[in-house]
Amino acid sequence: MDIVEVISQRRSIRAFKPNPVPQKVLKEIVELALRAPSWANTQPWEFAIVGGKKLEEVREGFMARSSDIPNPDVPIPKEFPEPFNTRRRAVGASVFEIKGIGREDKEKRVAWTLAGLRLFEAPNAIYVLTSRSFYLQAGSVNVWPIFDCGCVAENIMLLATKHGLGTIAQIAAVMYPDVLRKVLEIPDSKIIVLGIAIGYPDWDEPINQLHTERASLDEVARWYGF
Ligand SMILES: Cc1cc2nc3c(=O)[nH]c(=O)nc-3n(C[C@H](O)[C@H](O)[C@H](O)COP(=O)(O)O)c2cc1C
Repeated sequence: MDIVEVISQRRSIRAFKPNPVPQKVLKEIVELALRAPSWANTQPWEFAIVGGKKLEEVREGFMARSSDIPNPDVPIPKEFPEPFNTRRRAVGASVFEIKGIGREDKEKRVAWTLAGLRLFEAPNAIYVLTSRSFYLQAGSVNVWPIFDCGCVAENIMLLATKHGLGTIAQIAAVMYPDVLRKVLEIPDSKIIVLGIAIGYPDWDEPINQLHTERASLDEVARWYGF
């Protein structure tokens, strides 16, 4: 698969087969992903790569906390100005349509939220961490380590695609960082940025056919000097 195919094929996967990803494959993916660029090559990322009983413990911990207000280390945006809100709502509507979840169907909505907190039953997860003292400086946020973590995360997701694996970047996977800190013994000196659920996609599940739209190039790019 060349880079164009890999980028075109990657999509968020929300239903996985149970078989675990061999550790060797995960190692190969994360090792190559480390070639991502970063601010002055600071490489401000670390990873907690999880499977088996440990991931079950995380899921159990998240289920026990699921009615609590989430408190991810990197806060959830409070507002989505346009055009972001329209785009955000569109993907939510598509997911609910495929899953047959009606507007008023509270029970199914809650079940879907729980499915997300359970990483859609992916057999493995890669948590991306960064340094708290680099991210928070004199009380204000330095966004650049988060940007760099995004670069490495995309590398991971693209390399996984090349291996026939599916991934989804998930804020849901890091909603209760205290659970992750306890189960995975992550010190307070690390910020838990994002979770990436990873495994073999269950292609029989219609949700994995979701192909999200993109604004056209004309909408987002202006050209100068051509
Ligand atoms: C930082 C980040 C956090 C995300 N968190 C979630 C999440 O918690 N639950 C979810 O279903 N999708 C999550 N997504 C996936 C996005 O919804 C998805 O990338 C977007 O709709 C585009 O679809 P695609 O990945 O299939 O191209 C997240 C993506 C990113 C980059």
